[in-house]
Parts: sequence; structure tokens; C-alpha cells
Amino acid sequence: MSVTDDRFMEEAIQEAIKALGRTSPNPPVGAVVVKNGNIVGRGFHPGAGRPHAEVFALEQAGAQTRGANIYVTLEPCNHHGRTPPCSQAIHEAGISKTIVGMKDPNPAAAGGLEYLASVGISSESGILEQRITRILEPFLMRIHEGRPLIALKMAQTLNGIAASKPGSPRMMITSEQANLAVHHLRDIHDAIMIGGRTARLDDPLLTCRMTGGRNPIRVVVDPHLASVHPDLRMLKQPGRTIILHYPDADKDKVRQLEHAGAEQLLLDPNQPLAQSIIKSISYIENISSVLLEGGPTLASFFLNSGLVDHAYFFVAPKISPSGISVLKPDRQVILEDISWMQMGPDLLLTGRLHDRDVRKEPFQGIILTEDIRNILVKPESHTVSKPHTSGN
Ligand SMILES: NC(=O)c1ccc[n+]([C@@H]2O[C@H](COP(=O)([O-])OP(=O)(O)OC[C@H]3O[C@@H](n4cnc5c(N)ncnc54)[C@H](OP(=O)(O)O)[C@@H]3O)[C@@H](O)[C@H]2O)c1
Repeated sequence: MSVTDDRFMEEAIQEAIKALGRTSPNPPVGAVVVKNGNIVGRGFHPGAGRPHAEVFALEQAGAQTRGANIYVTLEPCNHHGRTPPCSQAIHEAGISKTIVGMKDPNPAAAGGLEYLASVGISSESGILEQRITRILEPFLMRIHEGRPLIALKMAQTLNGIAASKPGSPRMMITSEQANLAVHHLRDIHDAIMIGGRTARLDDPLLTCRMTGGRNPIRVVVDPHLASVHPDLRMLKQPGRTIILHYPDADKDKVRQLEHAGAEQLLLDPNQPLAQSIIKSISYIENISSVLLEGGPTLASFFLNSGLVDHAYFFVAPKISPSGISVLKPDRQVILEDISWMQMGPDLLLTGRLHDRDVRKEPFQGIILTEDIRNILVKPESHTVSKPHTSGN
């Protein structure tokens, strides 16, 4: 490993970051082709079914691939999936050395480096691996634990209030700057999830309204279908909305929601709610990460089940006389790998939950912090486009 390798792998990581939230169930991967110390091709995987990062980087490099090195954040695939093997493309392009960040843990796609060795192309792996693991965490969670990564996002006042009391006007907790950060978070997660009461009381749009952003899948958990209704504004927005409920929910409501375009998945009433939600959404192929946006009741179910992996707490410099508390934990939960960022007048605390069973933890103390910092604290060029009506 050399400083030069680190520098070019960092460039490949910057490409991979462009793919965050767009590739599930595939991993977000980036690549650069380097000839005589200069980057001559760049690429990232734009989405499942589309060519992989290496293909774009090789294409851009053209004839300069002969004798060049390629840096890829994840081992080139060695299988015929929806696209031909990248290992073969690298060979055919005349690359002389392949440098990868991490070996592919997916047995179906692994073996690229072995193939390259068999045709005489040298390789090296493990360059900036820990940083790359952060970017790949949702993908790794899917592979190792068979479930999506859950990231909790909560906004609160200094005295821990998350919402006004039922019947009172809605409380706006955080600033425009913090709200923009939430749109960045939506952009890099595959799905947004909220509870039924939040859907009814706030009637949010749940879209990603930042420049260049894309809408995640919307998931609403309303076990008894007591709160959601076919006139919810999110059902008129582009993208999918999936409502989770128990099998015995009101059949008329089920039909009305279906008619309004909502997809529906059943929850298992014999399982704890959070586990049952995870089981249902694990069937949806392209959800590897979920941004859990509340409310406090749903968030508490997840927290108390030990199923929250990352947390984003937006703390506003306000003290509210009354309202609903943020979370109701049944034990102490400690955040680690923490980072604080200022967002206008608010603070964003990001962290990783210590509550998970660390013995089963296949990762190395990772949180997207660094990359989130890159993404969240972007130049002014990113603005939230205002909808005609207000809404989160
Ligand atoms: N500060 C923030 O970051 C933030 C974020 C989102 C929302 N909010 C605020 O939070 C408030 C709503 O939050 P909330 O905590 O009241 O509700 P919620 O978390 O949005 O929804 C809870 C859902 O869980 C269901 N549920 C509750 N207990 C259950 C049980 N034992 N078994 C099965 N299902 C159960 C509820 O159904 P039933 O109604 O049928 O019980 C409801 O569908 C709103 O005012 C919203 O503005 C704040």
C-alpha cells in the first residue's frame, strides 16, 4: 500500500459516494483508471441492471487502458448477472494491475481477483478498506444479517420534545438548514419509514426535494389501519408507498388504499412489531437501508428491539413547555462513533448504537459520519425546492 494508492482509491471512493442510495440490492461502487500517474477514466455503478463502475471507467479511458492500473472500491465481479463479468472486461481492456478496496463478500459475485491472477494480471486488496466498509454498510448488512440497515432520524428540543400534544398545532422544531440535511439523508437511503399517526397528523409528502435527489420508497407502519387514509398527500407523489398492517385490518380500507395506489404488506401479529416490520420489508429486494423518521412510538419500538443501527438526532436550541417526548427507552442506550455538526442554529448528533449485539457485529465500528459529512455539508448549490404546499 502506498500514499499514491490511497490517493487514487480516495478518488474511487468519491465516485462510489455518487452511487449511495441508488444501487440496492447491488453495492455502491466507484472506480478510476490511472495511466502514468493521471486519472484517465472514472465511473460509478448507477443502479441495479446498469453497467458496473469499472465498465464506465474503462470506457472513459478508451485506448489508454492498455498498461494502466484500475482502482475499484469493491472486487470486480466474476459472474454473469444482469451484466457480463467486470473481471473479463478488465482483462480485455489490457489493464496491468487491479487495486481493490475490499474483497466481495457476496459468494455469487466474488472471484474476480482469482480470475485476474489466472490471466496474469496482478492485484492488491484492502486499500482504505475501513472507509469503504462504511459506504458499503447497508449492502454488508443485507449479506451478513439478511436485513436492511436502520437509521433513526429524530428532531428534538433541548428538553427532549419531539412533537406537540395531540390536538395542538404542529410544532416546527428544526431550521431550514437541518431540514435540507434530512433531504440529503433521504437521498442516500433506500426507504423512509414513519408510523401511522405521523402520516395522519403531519400528512407529509415524504419526497426528496434537493437538487439531483431521488425519492426513496415510502413505508408507513399502521398495524390496525386506524390512521392512514386514501387522501394522504404522499399517495399522490411520484414513487412507491408501501403500507404495513396486520392481516385482520379493515377490508374496505385495504381496498381504498389499493385504489389510491398504495402497495400493502402484511405484518405478522405473532411477532414483536419491529421484528415483524423488518421481516416484511426484507422481502422488498431493493431496500438495503431505511431512514426511520418517527414518530416517537414507532422509533421506540425499534430502539427497544435493538434494531437501530445508526442515529441522527437534530437538536434545536429551544425549550418547549409541553409536548410528546422523543423516545421511551426501556434501558440505557449509548451512542458511539459520534460526531457533531452544526446545521444553522441546530446541532446534528450522528452515532452508531452500542445496543446491538456486538459479538455478531461483522463491521469495525463504522458510521457513515465522514461520508455523511461530505454529503451533508455541501456547498450552497444544494437547495430544497419548495413544494406548492408545506410538508416534510
Ligand atoms: N420530532 C420528530 O423527529 C418527529 C418525527 C416524526 C413524527 N413526529 C411527530 O410525532 C407524532 C406522532 O408520533 P406517535 O408516536 O404518536 O405515533 P407514530 O410513531 O407516528 O405511529 C405509531 C404507530 O404505531 C401503532 N402502534 C402503537 N402502539 C402499537 C402496538 N402496541 N401494537 C401495534 N401497533 C401499535 C399506532 O397505531 P394505533 O394508532 O392504531 O395505535 C401507529 O400506527 C406527530 O405529532 C408527529 O408530528 C416527530
